[in-house]
Amino acid sequence: MNKKITIAIDGHSSTGKSTVARRLAKELGYIYVDTGAMYRAVTLYMMRKVFVSESNFNEEAILRHLPFVDLEFKFNDKTGKADMYLENENVEEEIRYMEVSKHVSQVSAIPEVRRKLVEQQQEMGKEKGVVMDGRDIGTVVFPDAELKIFMTASTEKRAHRRYAELKARGEEVEYDEVEKNVKERDYLDSTREDSPLVRAEDAIEFDNSDMDLEEQFEKILKIAQDKIQEVNS
Ligand code: DC
Repeated sequence: MNKKITIAIDGHSSTGKSTVARRLAKELGYIYVDTGAMYRAVTLYMMRKVFVSESNFNEEAILRHLPFVDLEFKFNDKTGKADMYLENENVEEEIRYMEVSKHVSQVSAIPEVRRKLVEQQQEMGKEKGVVMDGRDIGTVVFPDAELKIFMTASTEKRAHRRYAELKARGEEVEYDEVEKNVKERDYLDSTREDSPLVRAEDAIEFDNSDMDLEEQFEKILKIAQDKIQEVNS
């Protein structure tokens, strides 16, 4: 039988990591894990408790409540994707709101939050046969992953993609606000002390600024298939 591998896809926000990663997992018959959804769900939990807001960031309360945050992915037969559940409630849509995006990088910078989620991610991927996307998958979660891809694209391209996505979902947002958020998250995610977003030395850099989804997918699928073949030869 073919040995399965671990595929880590990291990169800046709105590089289209999750779209490619999800499709790749489906094609290979692997599990897909969107780790950004987990950081978003923790953020939403803390926002609902009002420990995190425009005017408040209560780290002490976040730490106190962190052990009780109950996260789970459940497969949705209708969409064919796994949805994020927080305390048994489907929050897949709500975690993508701009309000959550505004606070998620700050919550993700807390080492205890990272420790909790990294542990869950390692558990989910321990049997291999997983495509996981995030910021620290190839550096921290699975430093031994057989295949690491680091996705990049110009800030402008990413902001336009994000804006189109939010608009399509009916959110009232201004382009400038989206671009500002993309830049802020790039900065915060790359400069935090604990597991900053950096390209793993052995990751393949993949700039998709001038590629459509189909082209990207075909290229990444080929890279993955070659790697699987190499591991099995
Ligand atoms: O992939 P995303 O845009 O949904 O991720 C949301 C935020 O979560 C991102 O700005 C930083 C954080 N994150 C992280 O710190 N580590 C990960 N592995 C995934 C996401």
